[in-house]
Amino acid sequence: MRILHISDLHFWTITCNPFYLLNKRLLGNLNLVTRRRWYIRQERADSFIELMEGLRPDVVLVGGDLTTTALESEYEKASGFLSRLQSVCPDIYVIPGNHDYYTFESQRKGRFEQYLGRYNPSSDQAVCYRPINDTALVCLPTVRPNLFSSRGFISKAHRDTAQKILREVRERQIIVLAHYPCLYTIPEYHTGLTRRLEGALPLRKMLGGSGRSVLYLAGHVHVFSHRRDPVYANVTQVTTAPLFYEKNKQPGGFTEIVTDKDELKIFPWTYDEGWTRCRESLPAPA
Ligand SMILES: [Fe+2]
Ligand SMILES: [Fe+2]
Repeated sequence: MRILHISDLHFWTITCNPFYLLNKRLLGNLNLVTRRRWYIRQERADSFIELMEGLRPDVVLVGGDLTTTALESEYEKASGFLSRLQSVCPDIYVIPGNHDYYTFESQRKGRFEQYLGRYNPSSDQAVCYRPINDTALVCLPTVRPNLFSSRGFISKAHRDTAQKILREVRERQIIVLAHYPCLYTIPEYHTGLTRRLEGALPLRKMLGGSGRSVLYLAGHVHVFSHRRDPVYANVTQVTTAPLFYEKNKQPGGFTEIVTDKDELKIFPWTYDEGWTRCRESLPAPA
């Protein structure tokens, strides 16, 4: 079985409507105008769909941040892209990232649920489990809107639910899908206080204490990494590169996961004037 993890698509629209700029979106728009629009190459969506027509993945997991400032027009682009992707791969699971709940207003209006809810395995943003052949998929909600920061959050109640699921699932391999990584700092990235997941330490402890073999998939940090938890050897974390990125020679890409008997093999893909599959990645110690 071939599972793809794509993340941080960051479809963007620049808005001049002052009504939409009376909140954190003002900062997000400034960032878009001056920086982000140059390195998020959303026009690559077509070539990605073409690649999928050849690759025919069994499942696509989307790790959040499909939009940039959670505008309706950005959600329309994200939803249109996923509709095209679904014609190639019907089995798509999507969780939100912090940019999809960029403002309190976007959350209040339920924009994520309205446009992408049909791909989200949980209708109320709770922890949920789905069997995918012989692999268990556990989705963790880790986002909420913030006034200024990009902090994530996982509650004790959600950790407890996830712990119960890990105890009960029969599948040998477990994939945990979340937006925020659970390791704060590794050689590939550093998440400062305003960008990290609150509750990551007890989350790692819970995953490690489960004794199950867990592949933790995250996005948010905009770089590919593959590390074993330094304390809990049964937990391996992969962070996936943003799908349409090109910044300072930092390529965009996605991650292919091939289930092979009792193993999950990891193959990063990158984009450099075309999509390229890299050789198999093995986890480094964090
Ligand atoms: Fe992101
Ligand atoms: Fe993010």
